[in-house]
Amino acid sequence: MLVAPSVLSADFGNLQRDVEDICSSGCDLVHVDVMDGHFVPNLTIGPVVVSAIAACATKPLDIHLMVQNNTFFVELFAPLKPKYISFHIEEEKHPHRLIQKIRSLGIKPAIVLNPQTPPESLEYILKDLDMVLLMSVNPGFGGQSFIQSVIPKAAKLNDMRKRLNPACLIEVDGGVSYKNIQSLKEVGVDIVVAGSYIFNHASKKDAIASLKV
Ligand code: DX5
Ligand code: ZN
Repeated sequence: MLVAPSVLSADFGNLQRDVEDICSSGCDLVHVDVMDGHFVPNLTIGPVVVSAIAACATKPLDIHLMVQNNTFFVELFAPLKPKYISFHIEEEKHPHRLIQKIRSLGIKPAIVLNPQTPPESLEYILKDLDMVLLMSVNPGFGGQSFIQSVIPKAAKLNDMRKRLNPACLIEVDGGVSYKNIQSLKEVGVDIVVAGSYIFNHASKKDAIASLKV
């Protein structure tokens, strides 16, 4: 299992310290939540702060857009050279066009599904993706409870990707902890995002290690 700590739960007064800490504690990606106050009822960080994160991160960035104007934000963050940019299918009229745009900028494209959005919505686009991110909470805030229905949903997506695009990774975001990591592993999840579980733990290294099943 790959682990992507969400910096949303970091101490923003000590952002450099926290980013360096997770990077030296065995994480695989640094997950960055970009919220615009429109698509979700919360507002987070823009390119000024994300470039400060990129400057001290020694692991690749995984940017999760929770915004209304995806193309604008893709152009804003592309110069920071993240490994992944993921956008919500619920907020994009032309997902295929945006996937091509992200790829043309040298970034791996990913689509995010909210808890109610079925994996079947990806039937004709899965072959074009590097990753699918399944939300296991309603997007907008850290520290929420894990929604169990993501388990059968990930199992279904795992079957779909075997058929359509075996190289496409499955990532799950929200409420992830040692309590659900085994069930996520069993249904084929490759990457987990965890915010409060890692940042509230006395040792980030132990927390990350406990998710590497
Ligand atoms: C929620 C964000 C998540 C969040 C996860 O909208 O996408 O990445 O920070 O935080 P936890 O692990 O605390 O649920
Ligand atoms: Zn996220």
